[in-house]
Amino acid sequence: MNINETLFKYGQEHLLAFYDELSDSEKEALINDISSIDFERMQNIYDHRENHMAEDSEVSCAPYIDKEKLIGELQKKYEQLGNELISEGKLAVCSMAGGQGTRLGHTGPKGTFVVALDTPKSIFEILMDKLKEAYQKYGVYLHWYIMTSEANDCDTQNFFVKNNYFDYPKEYIHFFKQGELPLMNFEGKMLLENKGKVFKAADGNGGIFEALEKNNILEDMKEKNIQYLSIGNVDNILIRQIDALLLGMMAEGKYELASKSIVKKSPEEPVGVFCKINDRPSVIEYIDLDPEKAKMRDDNEELFFGEAFFGNTFMKRTLLEKIATAKLPIHTAKKKNSYLGENGEMVVASEPNTYKFEAFIFDAFKMADDMLILRTKREEEFAPIKNKEGADSPETARKLYMDYYAKH
Ligand code: UTP
Repeated sequence: MNINETLFKYGQEHLLAFYDELSDSEKEALINDISSIDFERMQNIYDHRENHMAEDSEVSCAPYIDKEKLIGELQKKYEQLGNELISEGKLAVCSMAGGQGTRLGHTGPKGTFVVALDTPKSIFEILMDKLKEAYQKYGVYLHWYIMTSEANDCDTQNFFVKNNYFDYPKEYIHFFKQGELPLMNFEGKMLLENKGKVFKAADGNGGIFEALEKNNILEDMKEKNIQYLSIGNVDNILIRQIDALLLGMMAEGKYELASKSIVKKSPEEPVGVFCKINDRPSVIEYIDLDPEKAKMRDDNEELFFGEAFFGNTFMKRTLLEKIATAKLPIHTAKKKNSYLGENGEMVVASEPNTYKFEAFIFDAFKMADDMLILRTKREEEFAPIKNKEGADSPETARKLYMDYYAKH
């Protein structure tokens, strides 16, 4: 089938609406761009966009360990084991920094956003402080893998160059790009970003697995004998990715997968919680959790489904190798995006007007036989920057960060 036939078959002919106005090289770029799209898959994703979870899925509680209740001796033993692994360079850190950051509305990659601390620092610099602290403590430089996207890779790398890699040896900082999926309007039409470019966006933080494989990061980790990867959201300025305790617990229990939780504040809090789906480790999104189940409490008045996932996960390299080629489900989010309309004028969005398709990292958890979940304290590990103002904004994160460091 040639390209015109394919576009016709899937009702996407408008992607060539401005083709004749393009230069030869632009024409070639657009054809390459379109040829790289799997239209059959995109049609399928669009057709199933409202499906969240198979209706016959069995959702049950997941066991967790409360960090606060670990007894001293045991805690020390795990920490010691974790410390040894870190000193041997067996742990690397990975930041997922490929997101669009639409809610924050910062021009530039989220990691370059400057937080108004006493000495203002970009998010990347705040994360870098943790790697430097680890160097002080362990005498080794840990590798930092940073996942970017087509949209922000260049700006991210330039930011590091401009800041001289925050005086960290640059051979320990590695950037890798995640994949993209086309956006669609609510009628299932793909969109143009400009006359010669299909509008695509990063394929969600679940794109990390394919990206680690495609960019030879797993190979690189193997060569360096890195066995564990601590993967975290770029937008949490209190994240503790270099965590000897969790690492030690993981190694001792021979877990391939571990993640931290915080206590869900109320049945209504819109966060995903750890659970088991059909007896496999999972996270269930708040919209998918039966409201009755969400309210259930145990004898201690704690929510049965009360361990919230906040984006800090440790995975063994061997597990990442297994997940690399798995196809994760694709979720749909409604986002505000401006694009080139069919009459050649920009459509500027004031309301969500497009579907963005994303894979989520936690959909891969089911690939592990078991999962270790460690309950941590919200005020010690979680200061997210999501929104421009209000909840989870730079202001709330700044306060949480300052409060934490006033005490530690
Ligand atoms: P969010 O789901 O909060 O998305 O990402 P976002 O892109 O930062 O912000 P909004 O929703 O557009 O406002 C959670 C984490 O996953 C990363 C983000 O960078 C953040 O660290 N992420 C998200 C990626 O790395 N790639 C993606 O495609 C999506």
